[in-house]
Amino acid sequence: MYSSSSSFGCPKNGFVFAAIVVIFASLSGYVHGKTVIDSPMLTEKIGTNRTIKVDINGDGDFTSVQEAINSVPEGNGEWVIIHIRKGVYREKVHIPKEKPYIFLRGNGRGKTAIVWSQSSANNKASATFTAEAPHCIAFGISFKNEAPTGVAFTSQNQSVAAFVGADMIAFYHCAFYSTHNTLFDYRGRHYYANCYIQGSIDFIFGRGRSLFDNCELFVITDQRVSIHGSITAQNREDEGDNSGFVFIKGKVYGIGNVYLGRAKGAYSRTIFAKTYLSKTIVPHGWTNWSYDGSTENLFQAEYKCHGPGAETMNRVPWSKQLTEEEAENFLSINFIDGKNWLPAYI
Ligand SMILES: *[C@@H]1O[C@H](CO)[C@@H](O)[C@H](O)[C@H]1NC(C)=O
Ligand SMILES: *[C@@H]1O[C@H](CO)[C@@H](O)[C@H](O)[C@H]1NC(C)=O
Ligand SMILES: *[C@@H]1O[C@H](CO)[C@@H](O)[C@H](O)[C@H]1NC(C)=O
Repeated sequence: MYSSSSSFGCPKNGFVFAAIVVIFASLSGYVHGKTVIDSPMLTEKIGTNRTIKVDINGDGDFTSVQEAINSVPEGNGEWVIIHIRKGVYREKVHIPKEKPYIFLRGNGRGKTAIVWSQSSANNKASATFTAEAPHCIAFGISFKNEAPTGVAFTSQNQSVAAFVGADMIAFYHCAFYSTHNTLFDYRGRHYYANCYIQGSIDFIFGRGRSLFDNCELFVITDQRVSIHGSITAQNREDEGDNSGFVFIKGKVYGIGNVYLGRAKGAYSRTIFAKTYLSKTIVPHGWTNWSYDGSTENLFQAEYKCHGPGAETMNRVPWSKQLTEEEAENFLSINFIDGKNWLPAYI
């Protein structure tokens, strides 16, 4: 077997290396904390050298993110990198549906931010960032809506930081800041890896089929209302609808008290798995506030969560603690068919 070992120098290392490759290959369909998906890795995976530079100080092709997007032709069929250098870009940014294969690459979520301030009764209209094209990646960017919602005696308006409204969209090391309705995960298959999401009421909502892998959810207070807010309001519509929000690993903590989710419709589906839950989670765990239909088709579930907020004794009776078999289909990128479209896994 090692007859050609002299060309390797050391057969033992060759064997160890092969074993590691085998282990990683067998794990690659699963969510796991070991593989670091960083910007060079993603850049290599999408294999392009088309890069448009955005620099707020004028040292690039554009000073505005939207202008860079505007320069991408409609019907774009090849990955294009829009590199957004550090800075706070005060603008609304929209990727229209005719412009797939855009990779927005920031310099890190602490350095590159896209910020706007708008509240509205119309969620989509309020969004700072709107992605409506399939095959879109964002890396290392903060998306913020700075509208003063959540303040006592102000309007009940919502303020969306990002509207994610197409299929096959992935966010890596991004952050989403707002209070009310921060992340509108409208529809399609989405992957959020190592992201930070902040909010108070319904701050992750919509009808997406989404995997939140090792994300950090920070709960703030909303001084307008006395009800507890809810992290999620998932809106799966019927039995055949394969949408749902799955949170795996990561942690939930903060300064307000919230439910893990509220049933938004009869088939609402949300799973928290292997997640750290701080005391910020109220003991009932889940709420049917504003939904007064049958609870029999709700799928509000937890699997092996830990921390002081994971105590199950007082959970509402219609929430579930999953068995390993029941949880299995939700715990890997297969839930979102990730192997077919996530560049990091192809
Ligand atoms: C990079 O650009 C050159 C032309 O500028 C092109 O010939 C080449 O195929 C490109 N490489 C990739 C990986 O896109
Ligand atoms: C609330 O939203 C409406 C539109 O839906 C808008 O006209 C109004 O200015 C918003 N209020 C605030 C305080 O932003
Ligand atoms: C809503 O949840 C509460 C608490 O578990 C329960 O008492 C009530 O019956 C539920 N509503 C319906 C319609 O099932």
